[in-house]
Amino acid sequence: MGGLFTEERTLFYDELTSSNVEAARLARQGAEEGTLVVADAQSGGKGRLGRVWTSPAGVNLYFSMVMRPKISPENAAQMTLLTGVAGHEAMQRLQVPGVSIKWPNDLMVGSRKLGGILTEMNVRSSGVRWVIIGVGLNVNLELDQVSREMRHRVTSIRALTGRLMDRVEVLGSFLESFAKWRYCFDIEGFTPVRRRWLEGAHELGRRVQVNLTHTRFSGRALDLDQDGFLLVERDNGQVSRVLAGDVALLDDAVDANH
Ligand code: BTN
Repeated sequence: MGGLFTEERTLFYDELTSSNVEAARLARQGAEEGTLVVADAQSGGKGRLGRVWTSPAGVNLYFSMVMRPKISPENAAQMTLLTGVAGHEAMQRLQVPGVSIKWPNDLMVGSRKLGGILTEMNVRSSGVRWVIIGVGLNVNLELDQVSREMRHRVTSIRALTGRLMDRVEVLGSFLESFAKWRYCFDIEGFTPVRRRWLEGAHELGRRVQVNLTHTRFSGRALDLDQDGFLLVERDNGQVSRVLAGDVALLDDAVDANH
């Protein structure tokens, strides 16, 4: 694996509650940057916004990386955008067709989700102490393995390509890209990551609904700013910077009803 990720710092488990929880436990005990926790199955896989990440055994990738970037908490979202870029690049290398990055960091094929990223961090007054970046990627999942409600909303590399993939190869491809972009981020900052993110962007120029904790609004997704916020032009012309929350494509919502 070389460099950032090494065999010594990689831990494989048959089953965990959540690889993010285990990686956070290790980080609290001082685990180094590049510590990697991989689970074949998760009994309590976590998604963003308190959702469940369905994690059956033997088919997908569920892994979490311990990072210790020298950044302020406001910039932690940039690490998750970087992870989306790494995932997008890895999918291109593996010739998985039609993958885009949905802000902040879902890997999508059309309106179906191929992968998701959950970032959790620990902060001290001096800055970010550690960041856990958890990635779930649907590799060999067959769509009849998920509930009926989920079936039209997910996809997998196998469903897209017809190929049964070697999960270690897919993981290796992701880690290669991640290590490259992580290094680039340290040297050059967020600018090249942002540029690459925009190449894979899913919703720019399209109408979206932004769901925040207490409110929601619709508008057109315009751009990703230098800090990693999504810029959305509201219907009244005002431009909002969105850092947290959920963004849904309004044209997809129409598709789903037909
Ligand atoms: C999302 O799209 O909502 C984020 C999903 C993140 C799932 C991964 S699977 C590995 C890691 N462990 C977890 O419990 N969650 C993340």
